[in-house]
Amino acid sequence: MKRFLKPEDIGNLHKALEDARTVKDNPFADQTLGKDKTLLLIFFNSSLRTRLSSQKAAMNLGMNVIVLDVNKDGWKLETEFGVVMDGDKAEHLREAIPVMGQYCDIIGVRSFAKFENKNDDYSEKILTQFIEYSGRPVISLESSTRHPLQAFADLITIEEYKTVERPKVVLTWAPHPRALPQAVPNSFVEWMKVADVDFVVTHPKGYDLAPEFMEGVAYEPDQNKAFQGADFIYAKNWASYTQYGEVLSQDRSWTVDEKKMSLTNQAKFMHCLPVRRNMIVTDAVIDSPDSIVIQEAGNRVVSAQTVLKRMLQTIAEEKE
Ligand code: CP
Repeated sequence: MKRFLKPEDIGNLHKALEDARTVKDNPFADQTLGKDKTLLLIFFNSSLRTRLSSQKAAMNLGMNVIVLDVNKDGWKLETEFGVVMDGDKAEHLREAIPVMGQYCDIIGVRSFAKFENKNDDYSEKILTQFIEYSGRPVISLESSTRHPLQAFADLITIEEYKTVERPKVVLTWAPHPRALPQAVPNSFVEWMKVADVDFVVTHPKGYDLAPEFMEGVAYEPDQNKAFQGADFIYAKNWASYTQYGEVLSQDRSWTVDEKKMSLTNQAKFMHCLPVRRNMIVTDAVIDSPDSIVIQEAGNRVVSAQTVLKRMLQTIAEEKE
């Protein structure tokens, strides 16, 4: 495996879930695979879970880890081509990326949508440069449009907690005071489309996700109807795609509460975290025994380790 951005990159999903189970059951079985190999984690944006779970996953595999918070620790980086660099940016990504590639075997990159220009965000301007210029396998640690390690961990969690062969999974928009990217819902939709689940998305008017993600996905405008009979409720806020980056609603009637959860098949509550309590979800729901947000975050180690293991195996095969 040379890159991890979408479900196709991991190949057969049943096999990937089996591998994840093996990794979870015996996390230290592949310590020699990562010996003398280095993972470099580059953050253009803040993180708690992604940073710590990726580090832990790499350590479980015997790897060394270097973390760079670009905004705090490095030179200010220019990301545009053809500009006269007479401002405060001392280094261009075109040099910085191949240099980073010299210091590691695998690179993980976090670079969120900027919401300045939809085309720039949806063409993945930063991530594609890492793929093109680093000379190393690249893992998305959440890019402008996708968060695959989160979605893979979400699917691992659904597999663990499902009580029926083909559960009903609902992705619901929920209110938030700030404009948040579409990366988490885009990836969740993309992974649920290929998973063995009945999947429904519900959101207020104006919050349609990009057509390339939503094609073929069931949409229910009435949140209460969507919740009926659900086995998993996955809550998330995102800013408008059509009115790009705008917050069109903070309607708290969309907050996930006990009344809505009572419409479900005693659904498990999921969220990628961090979460705004009593905006996205009430205290009563997130503190209930049906909330699996902590277990979901725990599975971020499993998804990262499964992906890193595949990449290390590819590196080892190429050396033979
Ligand atoms: N869910 C998630 O990616 O969390 P962080 O932003 O803290 O990494």
